[in-house]
Amino acid sequence: MSEKYWQNKWVNRTRESVNNFTHRSYALIKDKNFKTLLEVGCGSGQDSRYFYRQGFKITALDFSRSGIAQSKARQSDIDYQQQDIRQAKFKSNSFDVIYAHLSLHYFDDRTTTQIFNKLHRWLKPGGYIFIKCKSTDDSLYGQGKKVGSDMYDKGHVRHFFSKEYMAAKLKQFKIIKIRKTSSTYHLYKSSFIEAVAIKQA
Ligand SMILES: C[S@@+](CC[C@H](N)C(=O)[O-])C[C@H]1O[C@@H](n2cnc3c(N)ncnc32)[C@H](O)[C@@H]1O
Repeated sequence: MSEKYWQNKWVNRTRESVNNFTHRSYALIKDKNFKTLLEVGCGSGQDSRYFYRQGFKITALDFSRSGIAQSKARQSDIDYQQQDIRQAKFKSNSFDVIYAHLSLHYFDDRTTTQIFNKLHRWLKPGGYIFIKCKSTDDSLYGQGKKVGSDMYDKGHVRHFFSKEYMAAKLKQFKIIKIRKTSSTYHLYKSSFIEAVAIKQA
């Protein structure tokens, strides 16, 4: 999805409420001695700020300048990285936790694989990764122009994940859980695949 779309989207909009995925993720790590967390695609930053309040040292990445500006105005004590995840570079074994809420379902298969490989490299051994993407059961699936396997362009490109696809992309990790969830937004059914995995020590 284009940088311009997300630049414009976050100019007049912010999300304040933290979603259940964030709470469920935190519940799994709160008793571990984790300190560093990378959020990929932080948007207007509500989840990064939530993890910051729990005591984490946060790196929040998004290519949207306006999204990052919104979050920075609320909490400046976060390492904001205005970068495209496709080009982003961090040292190996940099983070105890990586968290990506609805930010990894925009790329073709090759790019998705490259991104998951990078995330694996950046995570410390024993570290946790949390990912939520739109699923092939979503009501938007199949709408617009087909531009790849499970990919449709309806104004912007979305890559819908199945449980099997998520598992394949996480094959370097030890998978703890992959599950489907759904909720209703603006009268249409949104369906998701949520994953929790660990980088094996
Ligand atoms: C659906 S929003 C989710 C934002 C936030 N995680 C949330 O739940 O509110 C997707 C986010 O991914 C970001 N994004 C999309 N493609 C990106 C890319 N190639 N590099 C960095 N960020 C990207 C967008 O700017 C946007 O903020």
